[in-house]
Amino acid sequence: MDNPAAVARPHTPVHRGDYRPPAWLVPAVRLDVDLDPRATRVRARLDVRRNADPLAPPEPLRLDGAPGMRPTLVAVDGVELDAGEWRIDDDRLVIPLIGAEHVIDTEVMIDPGSNTQLMGLYASSGLLCTQCEAEGFRRITFFPDRPDVLATYTVRMTADAARYPVLLANGDKVGEGVEEGRHWAEWHDPFPKPCYLFAMVAGDLAANRDSFTTMSGRTVQLGIWVREADLPRTGHAMAALKASMAWDERVYGREYDLGIFNIVAVSDFNFGAMENKGLNIFNSRYILADPETATDADYDAIAGVVAHEYFHNWSGNRVTCRDWFQLSLKEGFTVYRDQQFSGDQGSRAVKRIEDVRVLRAAQFPEDAGPLAHPIRPDSYLEISNFYTATIYNKGAEVIGMLHTMLGDEGFRAGCDRYFKDHDGTAATCEDFVRAMEEANGADLTQFRLWYTQAGTPRVRASVRHDPDTATARVELRQTVPPTPGQPEKRPMPVPLRLALFGRASAAAIVPDRVHLLDDAIGEIVIDGVTEPPVLSINRGFSAPVTIETDRTPADLAFLSAHDDDPFARSEAMQQLMVDTLIAAINGRSPDEAPLIDAIARTLTDAELDPAFVGETVLLPSEAFLGDQLAVVDPAAVRAAREGLRRRIATTLDAEWRAAYQAACDNGFSLSPEAKGRRRLRTVALGYIAAAGANDAAGIALRQFEAADNMTDRFGALGVLASGTSAERETALAQFHDCYRADPLVLDKWFSAQALSMRETALDEAIALSAHADFTLANPNRLRALVGCLAANQYAFHAPDGRGYRFVADMVLAADRLNPQSSARLVPPLGRWRRFEPGRSALMRMELERLAAAPGLSKDAFEQVTRSLG
Ligand code: TRP
Ligand code: ZN
Repeated sequence: MDNPAAVARPHTPVHRGDYRPPAWLVPAVRLDVDLDPRATRVRARLDVRRNADPLAPPEPLRLDGAPGMRPTLVAVDGVELDAGEWRIDDDRLVIPLIGAEHVIDTEVMIDPGSNTQLMGLYASSGLLCTQCEAEGFRRITFFPDRPDVLATYTVRMTADAARYPVLLANGDKVGEGVEEGRHWAEWHDPFPKPCYLFAMVAGDLAANRDSFTTMSGRTVQLGIWVREADLPRTGHAMAALKASMAWDERVYGREYDLGIFNIVAVSDFNFGAMENKGLNIFNSRYILADPETATDADYDAIAGVVAHEYFHNWSGNRVTCRDWFQLSLKEGFTVYRDQQFSGDQGSRAVKRIEDVRVLRAAQFPEDAGPLAHPIRPDSYLEISNFYTATIYNKGAEVIGMLHTMLGDEGFRAGCDRYFKDHDGTAATCEDFVRAMEEANGADLTQFRLWYTQAGTPRVRASVRHDPDTATARVELRQTVPPTPGQPEKRPMPVPLRLALFGRASAAAIVPDRVHLLDDAIGEIVIDGVTEPPVLSINRGFSAPVTIETDRTPADLAFLSAHDDDPFARSEAMQQLMVDTLIAAINGRSPDEAPLIDAIARTLTDAELDPAFVGETVLLPSEAFLGDQLAVVDPAAVRAAREGLRRRIATTLDAEWRAAYQAACDNGFSLSPEAKGRRRLRTVALGYIAAAGANDAAGIALRQFEAADNMTDRFGALGVLASGTSAERETALAQFHDCYRADPLVLDKWFSAQALSMRETALDEAIALSAHADFTLANPNRLRALVGCLAANQYAFHAPDGRGYRFVADMVLAADRLNPQSSARLVPPLGRWRRFEPGRSALMRMELERLAAAPGLSKDAFEQVTRSLG
């Protein structure tokens, strides 16, 4: 253990209510970094100024550092201090200062080569790079590591010229030179920024260079930096970057502000990517793509993440966060912006279907479990644990509701107001809501509950029709479930888009409108309804709630055919599937005919977009079905779902084969139409295989071998991986042989097996953890195997508890290297309250084993103890 003291000290939570402005400001920083993979010397010169804010405490200067870090030099105003004139207290360098302004010099030595946490300065396949959000900068130098201290940065980097020919940092390059085999570069970023946005990279990199001319006519030099061999795989990211820059100008009026925008791809990275000012650093999986190695989903994810990080330049960098409790201020808003962008690139409806699926798969369970927290949390032990689906995805839904309620113009006016009032400052969620209010003359008092209350509201809706008076009454009732620390809830304001369709005419007799349900109960009375209506509600997913209705299978089948909102059509089909499956899981024998007819109709409707069809005919996942049950028996869920899937497959075998043939493309293209056909093709292949016909594995292997793109190849591999055919083994072996040298594709080989539906999937995943290509040190690989296994409900929840033990073992092993990675594997164990008693006890047992493990990181400790509840 490198720091026993840190472990002995109890972890102290941070509370939102304890916020105080910083005692000292740092208007300017000068860094001089002598880079070496084992011994990097960091000299920092900070201009510090006592904060004039009357709320700022009159304190000595306290600079955050990392456990065990000691300065090799401390000077004030050019005079070196003796060791007795400063002290280290709670990992902070404390320097008593008399005056109001001083210049502080410090020097530290750090070892990027041993940094397995991937926070601060670290080495990744030969290059040196940084990750500072949230609290990584303190591992590079002593500094007030909090987002409300904004400084301008001047950074001089010196390194071996042969090993690190490229030296990058934030802003513009202002100088460079060589001296005795080493070279240096100096970068200056004129925009004051918090230290979490600092970045530097040194390495042997090549650039895909391009340029963008902004709306005011300035030219921006763009560079995407990768290993030379990866250059041919950067075209899609570059196109996405330019599209994002143009989109943000057009839709939000936001222009880029520096002369340079660089992106670097690295293969060891804790997250998706990072929005460092002018120097974004990316997990290589969100940059590199070519048709041979990336699926259509990868292409879409790359465009989405490139846009996300670019959009942060305004929502995050120009206006940053006052403290980490405000994280959703930048993340929720930026996710909302990247989702809008992606919707505009292809089909908005399909994008919305995908985003809602992600929300339901990742955020709803979080909101329903022991880790539930509001989008603006009240306390944390380790901020890294709060980069959650709630902060990001529910945060985006909250912004989307403001957009729905205020309309396009009102929302844009509110955004303009927010950027204008808070440019160059560290703001709060409250500032954002107030800007929306002021620009619209709106009162969002009750809306603020979305920031303070956790839990997914449930809305019950029913329609009563009175043919005599030709009125329809829509009755609404909402409840917000209790969550940890919040036993009682107030009713939320829920904007519900709804419409009524005539059962006989199939027309929208009450066209789309928004109703704001702002109390526990609500009623809408609609006149002139002369035929029995069918209710379409929460259209476009206008609010992140669950809806319960008394609509019959016939109503849902009707909407799946006649609703004029494609998202709502798809939702109706999904609800019909859920209702049918839940009935089967509960031991009833539901009539499957309405569902199978609805699928047949959707599948054979030539008017429909194949991408939409592909998404709509997919059965809900086992995990999602589990989430609908009070007590989950994973075997019963598997049996019901597989049974239905087989009957859909066999009943419609001819239709699936026809759809498969029709979707066969010749000639690869990345057009939305071509992507849609590939999507439908693999979905159809899955059903053909589910029917159990003898030729299915052969068809899949043919698709696998003949594919001229990774979407078709990996789609076929996924179908084969869940079966027991000889073709499965052939395909897996070929895939490994062919792509063993490409880590991103090898991740897919691991994940296809970890997600498989085979009876033996758990044993296979455990065996793969001993495979020569498996490593705990790379977050992508760890996630591809262990993260995917934990998401495979049936395999993870093996009744003897071996899945739980495997994941807990992996948490312990990964925790020594990288606490952020290990902590992310804990939440699946935290769902123990939802499973039948046998599994529940085994899950708890593993959590207790983790809680008792000596030296467990603060990150994992927090997730484990909160999960135990
Ligand atoms: N701000 C980053 C994003 O959402 C998140 C991020 C990148 C991050 N790297 C990280 C968060 C490391 C925690 C730790 O785009
Ligand atoms: Zn982000």
